Amino acid sequence: MMFNILGIMDGWKGLIEVKPDKKESLKRWTMPLNKDLVRTWDRQGGTRLGTTRVNPFDPKKDQSEILIKNYKKLGLDALVVIGGFDNLGVAYKFYRKGFKVIGIPKTIDRDLSETDYTLGFDSALNVITNDVDRLRITAGSHRRIFVVETMGRKAGWLALEGGEAAGVSIILIPEHDFVMERVTELIKMRKKSGKRYSIVLVSEGAKPRGMDEIHEKRGRDGFGSYYLGGVGGFIADEIQENSNLEVRFVALRHLQRGGAPTAHDRRMGRKFGIAAIDMIVNEDFGRMVSVKHGEISSVPLKKALDRLRLVDVEKSYNTKNYKSLDQIL
Ligand code: F6P
Repeated sequence: MMFNILGIMDGWKGLIEVKPDKKESLKRWTMPLNKDLVRTWDRQGGTRLGTTRVNPFDPKKDQSEILIKNYKKLGLDALVVIGGFDNLGVAYKFYRKGFKVIGIPKTIDRDLSETDYTLGFDSALNVITNDVDRLRITAGSHRRIFVVETMGRKAGWLALEGGEAAGVSIILIPEHDFVMERVTELIKMRKKSGKRYSIVLVSEGAKPRGMDEIHEKRGRDGFGSYYLGGVGGFIADEIQENSNLEVRFVALRHLQRGGAPTAHDRRMGRKFGIAAIDMIVNEDFGRMVSVKHGEISSVPLKKALDRLRLVDVEKSYNTKNYKSLDQIL
C-alpha cells in the first residue's frame, strides 16, 4: 500500500493557520515527507516539524471548526498525533468528531497510562544523569549543597530515575509532599557524617507539605496548565537559611529536551512509527501506540487518557529519607 505523508508544521497551529488553496501558505505550514528526507531525523533531538502549545479546543478560543475545515481541504485521510497528555487529549476529541486518528506517546515526563514508555524520556534522563555528574565535581570541590530541579509536572519519574542513576542524596517528587525541615535535617546529617557535598534532585511539580506548587510566572497555557518552576530555588534558600552550609540552585529546565536522542529513543521512535503505519493499514483508529513488557501494541486513546501514570510511592519511594527504594541508604 502506498501512502502520501504530509508533515504539519508546528502542531495544531499549523493545521489551523494553513490556507490549503494558497501555495505559499502550504509551503510554510506543511512539509511532504519521504524516506530520503526523514532518514537521519532520528539522530536529532527536538522536532523538525516544530511544535506549539496551541489547543484548538481551548474554551476561551475554540478553533476546532477551522481545524476540521483545513483537514478536509488538505484531503487528509488520517492524522498521526505525536504528543503527551494534552495533545493526545486533542487527538481524542478530534477522533470523537469522526476523524481517523492515531496517537504516538511522546513526553519526557513519561506519565501516560497504558504504555511503559513515552518518547524522549530516556534522552532527558541521560541529560539529568550527566548534568548531575558534572555538578558533583564542582559540589565536591567547594563542599557545597546543590539543589537541582528537573521537569515533571505531576509525575516524578525523571527525578526518581535520574536520581537513582546519578546517585543523588535526596529525591523529591510530586507524588509525595515533602517536609522542608526534614530535608534540611537530612542534609545536615550527611554533613555530620563526613560527606563533602549533597545533591537534592527535585521535580518542578513537587511541593512542600501544606503549600501549593511553585509557579515560575503567572497565568496558564492553552491547556489550562500553570507554568511550574522555582521549587528548587525555594528549597535552596530554606537550607541556606537554616544551616551554615553553602547552597546553590540549578534548574535543568529545557536543557532536558536538548541534545541528541539516546539509542533507546531512536529505536523506540522507529518502532512507534512503524506501529502507527500498521495501525493505519489495519484501520485501528482512535488508538495510541503502546509498549508493554517490551511488546509493541496499541490501546484506546480514551484509556490512555483516563488518568496519569504516577510513581507508586509505596512501591518505589522512601518517604522517610526521600530516596528511591532502589537506592542504598
Ligand atoms: O509536559 C511536559 C513538560 O516537560 C513538563 O514537565 C513541563 O512543565 C512542561 O513540559 C514545560 O513546557 P514548556 O516547553 O511549555 O515550557
